[in-house]
Amino acid sequence: MPSPNPLKAVRGTRDLLPPETALWNHIEQTARAVFARYGFGEIRTPIFEATELFARGVGEETDIVSKEMYTWEDRARAQSEKPQSLTLRPENTAGVVRAYIEHKLGETGQLQKLFYIGPQFRRERPQRGRYRQFWQIGVEVLGPPSSGSESPLRDAELLEMVATLLDELGVRNWQLQVNSVGSSEDRKRYDAVLRQALAGVKDRMCPDNQRRAETNPLRVLDSKEPADQALIDALPKIADSLGEDSRAHFAAVLAALDACGVRYTINPRLVRGLDYYTRTTFEFTIPDGSGLGTQNALLGGGRYDGLSEMLGGPRAPGIGFAIGEDRLVLTLQAQAEQAVNSADAQIQKLDAYIAPMGVERNAAALALARELRRAGLSVEIGDGSFRLKKSFEAADRVARHIVILGEDEVATSTATLKAFATGEQIKIPQADLVQLLRH
Ligand code: HAM
Repeated sequence: MPSPNPLKAVRGTRDLLPPETALWNHIEQTARAVFARYGFGEIRTPIFEATELFARGVGEETDIVSKEMYTWEDRARAQSEKPQSLTLRPENTAGVVRAYIEHKLGETGQLQKLFYIGPQFRRERPQRGRYRQFWQIGVEVLGPPSSGSESPLRDAELLEMVATLLDELGVRNWQLQVNSVGSSEDRKRYDAVLRQALAGVKDRMCPDNQRRAETNPLRVLDSKEPADQALIDALPKIADSLGEDSRAHFAAVLAALDACGVRYTINPRLVRGLDYYTRTTFEFTIPDGSGLGTQNALLGGGRYDGLSEMLGGPRAPGIGFAIGEDRLVLTLQAQAEQAVNSADAQIQKLDAYIAPMGVERNAAALALARELRRAGLSVEIGDGSFRLKKSFEAADRVARHIVILGEDEVATSTATLKAFATGEQIKIPQADLVQLLRH
């Protein structure tokens, strides 16, 4: 009988394997350490939510909601349940704000500073740096206006934190692009200006942009359609529709960035693909040739002063960002020097490899390994069926020492210890092993 075809991971999803996972862990540990220095705590929200959360939060007309979500009708299992439309989260900001409302975090009066690390799901066309399951490391800062949540200082502090994190990870050549999309009133004003300008040119644009010009003109500015770029660049700029408050807020963000020496460029087309943004929007990008290809946005974010109210909550202005962790890994791997540094961290050898001589010594090897591991040492065990030469080769690959357990050693509670660095081999009481292996 022919053997069945082996099953593969679903298109757009992938397995992360060692040693690469060590780099993922290094990134996450660095992020956690940096976030802790800025007073952030971790939030973990469910991976699926009611579809309505994203429709209301992210926006019906966005690409994410209109064509990229994994949505299903969840059947009722009991009389008390109703069937419900559920969706694998395409992003985490809406979920965090839902949790903020649900747990009445606003009633503390405190600014909430939250971070998350986890998978997100979008049915996009997979390519390098773009997957259907991908990971985000994100941060949200929100609270009642009295907590200072609206202050431009929050925006600048958050951007400065990202710059610090990228620098500590050794990411080179990042560029910060910023813009202001204004308040919801400014957006309404701009929407009208944009519709009018688009009316004259939209017939010369691609079908997607023609549709956007009708349904959500701001989204035309996100368009990557090469043939439409000249027309889009000539459209009126959002900066010219900003009210006095939005202008002053943006100017204060930029002044604070200048004061702490974080470099940026203003990109008037940076409106971002999610509808909840107000005022400051930003992206950190990596220039071409640094491993990301066309998917050059390492992270994106912005302010969402009206999101809580859109989801039925109290007024809770906020700002946040999400790093595409997959893209961060690709960038670090491509920026050779850093990849070597983190590879060094990855191939840290174990403290010891225990080689039992003969299968009768296997149980004793496990007992010794248990003792050493409980003392905090890293240990791998071979197998009593291996010849001595094979044990030495295996040990040299993964560990700094080999610990040989033969019949005599087991009988006398001793071990033969060899350090690969010096070649020195000694027979010692097992009780002395912990002490010696630490060096
Ligand atoms: P976003 O721009 O949709 O924003 O995603 C943030 C980052 O996630 C992107 O810059 C990119 O690095 C990564 N990313 C997005 N889609 C994919 C994909 N298919 N494959 C790999 N990486 C991807 C948000 O998600 C907002 N929630 C960010 C935010 C937080 N705004 C305020 N707070």
